[in-house]
Amino acid sequence: MPHHTQAPFPTARHRRTRQSAQIRALVQENTLSVGDLIWPIFVRDGESIAEPVSSMPGVHRLSVDKIVDAAREAADLGIPAICLFPYTDPTLKTETCEEAWNPDNLSNRASRAIKDAGINIAIMSDVALDPYNANGHDGIVKDGKILNDETVEALVKQAVEQARNGVDIIGPSDMMDGRIGAIRSALEAEGFADTMILSYSAKYASAFYGPFRDAVGASGALKGDKSTYQMNPANSDEALRMIQRDLNEGADMVMVKPGMPYLDICQRVKDTFAVPTYAYQVSGEYAMIQAAAQNGWIDGEKAMLESLMCFKRAGCDGVLTYFAPAVARMLQA
Ligand code: PBG
Repeated sequence: MPHHTQAPFPTARHRRTRQSAQIRALVQENTLSVGDLIWPIFVRDGESIAEPVSSMPGVHRLSVDKIVDAAREAADLGIPAICLFPYTDPTLKTETCEEAWNPDNLSNRASRAIKDAGINIAIMSDVALDPYNANGHDGIVKDGKILNDETVEALVKQAVEQARNGVDIIGPSDMMDGRIGAIRSALEAEGFADTMILSYSAKYASAFYGPFRDAVGASGALKGDKSTYQMNPANSDEALRMIQRDLNEGADMVMVKPGMPYLDICQRVKDTFAVPTYAYQVSGEYAMIQAAAQNGWIDGEKAMLESLMCFKRAGCDGVLTYFAPAVARMLQA
């Protein structure tokens, strides 16, 4: 970072370059574009259903046919990728989580349907056991412990099945050790050399995931918290170790999650590794902006655009955001 001495006032008047919209555009350092967006969407059973998620105003759980419509809408708006999250029927949740690698589970049905419809959009998946787990955890639980290596075996089966069903970008969000390497070698062995991995590498044990757990129906089941596998929000160096580890194991892209309270992490990651870096503006961040906007306390559209621009300024190449279609429409207008 070059430091230069600045002329004193009034030789330097910093407001000169802020005086009009044209000049401000000329000196603007970062931009937000539709190409920066990944849209997380929730899949549920049934047909022709769009069920509102009460803690996430404007977000719905969609049946597979509606998911196809949503994917088409996203593609038409120029959004490069969507990310699928299933709301699994509670009767399909077990302690061994087999539904996670069922070729006909909701996530696999949805990605197949999008590909079969010939829609030009990248599909990202979620690799973790929580939507399928009677215990609500991302890993297999035994005697109150989240088992690492047994979970990784399950995640590998889940990831390979997702690749078979058309997923382009595998998104491990579970925070088990060794899963990126295990998934990468399984993908190579099964003939999916081009399937990408966007690792949730620096994922924190955060209170901001609350509304998401409602959306996928995992809040009721969850016993305890996720702090034995997700990261301590007090840590920063540890995030760099996680990113390094996942890159070494074969991740193509990395993620910091949550987003806005962790912009310092985003910046360190991008500065240190210079790899494709993403942030997840999570459900709680979305809910806070929407709730304040609904109360008339903030301007929702401006807060949305500002929050997303901040990710770009921090060095992110893109953002997973529930605002994706709304932003895309505004950027188009
Ligand atoms: C779990 C998962 C979570 C999110 C994405 N994948 C929740 C959690 O870790 O409990 C959160 C996304 C959000 O809050 O928007 N595998």
